[in-house]
Amino acid sequence: MAHSVSDHLHVMIADYDRFIRTVIPHYETMRAVQLELLARCLPSDGRVIDLGGGTGALARAVAEKFPAACVEIWDTDPAMLEVAQERCAAFGDRVHLIERSFAEPLSACDAVVACIALHHVKDMAEKGKIYANVFRALRPGGIFANADCVMSETSAVRAASYEGWAKFMEEQGLSPAETQQQFAEWANEDYYPPLATELRLLAEAGFAEPDCFWRTAPFTVFGGVRS
Ligand SMILES: C[S@@+](CC[C@H](N)C(=O)[O-])C[C@H]1O[C@@H](n2cnc3c(N)ncnc32)[C@H](O)[C@@H]1O
Repeated sequence: MAHSVSDHLHVMIADYDRFIRTVIPHYETMRAVQLELLARCLPSDGRVIDLGGGTGALARAVAEKFPAACVEIWDTDPAMLEVAQERCAAFGDRVHLIERSFAEPLSACDAVVACIALHHVKDMAEKGKIYANVFRALRPGGIFANADCVMSETSAVRAASYEGWAKFMEEQGLSPAETQQQFAEWANEDYYPPLATELRLLAEAGFAEPDCFWRTAPFTVFGGVRS
């Protein structure tokens, strides 16, 4: 069954944009890092694919910053795409919405981005195939910039990351019980691999120099450039 954000996050889609900022630290900072990376790698009329682009916040930011670029949002949840459609209507055919899994092969493009979406892939062999699809789709010089959570498998480091994350959510108004309940529910559907695993998968997919571009643990922007 296709992923449904309203089931997964227990949030009405109309409230998603507010909610996500209360549960994901550095959400806006990661977007700024992705845009900065695109500014260095994307041709002015480049084509960008946003994997699991949801309500279109990143796609809109890309379309605004790069007025000749076009963006494709790939997402399996029609309710999220409906919001993206409204949000991005002003860009006309520069923003395309595609109801499709990010596990499908990608068409040729200049950049691939994703924001807190690929952690839904729990099987690392499957994730490796997605990264191989990304690598194959990118034109030479094209960048993959993925903003997501990565978790150390060293228990003390992991515990510190979860404590910091919980503190953030509680500062946004969630109770400690609500915070722990969210973590427990997400653990059923999501997996945050260690950064080393992500970089290894990217290297195996063909990226010569996979890298972490920004990090405040456990949130990270990582990826690579197709040389
Ligand atoms: C937490 S939301 C993030 C949305 C958006 N990128 C953002 O930054 O707000 C995760 C998104 O991934 C999408 N998703 C989950 N599994 C997917 C899949 N296999 N293919 C495409 N999209 C998927 C969900 O529908 C959802 O919109």
